[in-house]
Amino acid sequence: MASPHQTLLCSSVIILVFALSLYEASLPLPSFIKACHRSDPNFKACALKSARETLPNVFDGVPKYRVPKLDPLIIDRLQVDEGHGPVGLAFTATNCTIYGIRNVRLDNVDIDLPKRHVFYDFYIPRVEIMCKYNASGRILLLPIRGEGPTNLTLTDLYMTYNYDFYTKKKADNKDYFYLNEDTTKLTYNTSRLYIRLENLFNGDKLLGESTNKALDENWDEVLKSVGPIVAETVAEVIRTILGNIFELVSYDEAFPK
Ligand SMILES: *[C@@H]1O[C@H](CO)[C@@H](O)[C@H](O)[C@H]1NC(C)=O
Ligand SMILES: *[C@@H]1O[C@H](CO)[C@@H](O)[C@H](O)[C@H]1NC(C)=O
Ligand SMILES: *[C@@H]1O[C@H](CO)[C@@H](O)[C@H](O)[C@H]1NC(C)=O
Ligand SMILES: *[C@@H]1O[C@H](CO)[C@@H](O)[C@H](O)[C@H]1NC(C)=O
Repeated sequence: MASPHQTLLCSSVIILVFALSLYEASLPLPSFIKACHRSDPNFKACALKSARETLPNVFDGVPKYRVPKLDPLIIDRLQVDEGHGPVGLAFTATNCTIYGIRNVRLDNVDIDLPKRHVFYDFYIPRVEIMCKYNASGRILLLPIRGEGPTNLTLTDLYMTYNYDFYTKKKADNKDYFYLNEDTTKLTYNTSRLYIRLENLFNGDKLLGESTNKALDENWDEVLKSVGPIVAETVAEVIRTILGNIFELVSYDEAFPK
């Protein structure tokens, strides 16, 4: 149940919350975002309220603020290498389309400026991840080989995302944010993973069905073996996008005094 890993969904939401809170002073503040001053005695409550009010406005993407469309969210590639992954499994998922993020509930946002620490807490009732997969090797003890469409559906997805940041001066002599990559930490748990791999074993119906049945019955084990590598990939995506955003806005602009 409490599998310590994470998915794509999280990334997008984190990105958007941050994108918007950081951009507010450097670009004209979009009308749907409420600014939070760092001197606000209720800064934490302000940040949570602002993020919650902002969310519904950004699911379709905000190009001006470099927020991609979030529902559906398109991810080009997820890869489980034999080198990193569960022993003996090569699994690649491409052309992933992820549905359900717009139903996210933001449970907590804690931006601790003095401690340079950020924490997010989310819930999404249902997420459907549709990809093309290519797999060979084993999941658990089951031989897996095939390529075709796959559907990974997660229900009751709880996610937390933590990281530290630091600030450094740029040429304009203003402080800018930098993510401390070593400190990023993502966890999630889910009430169920539904997994379906079409066209296993060159379309062998009997073997394909029995394998899908076994994977589905052992969904929690499947999540454990595949999840950490997916999380690693996703964390990389998040770091890259957050890094891009951070480069654009100075600390003082992001959190006015
Ligand atoms: C999942 O995470 C949420 C939020 O962190 C927590 O409240 C809940 O108890 C967790 N569920 C399980 C089954 O671990
Ligand atoms: C993935 O999507 C791209 C662009 O839509 C398309 O060109 C490509 O053929 C797709 N790849 C697969 C394996 O479907
Ligand atoms: C699937 O993976 C195998 C082994 O890694 C590779 O030989 C094959 O070309 C791949 N197929 C596609 C459609 O990418
Ligand atoms: C994906 O799988 C879920 C769970 O089995 C199912 O409810 C949903 O209809 C599937 N989606 C598609 C597009 O097949």
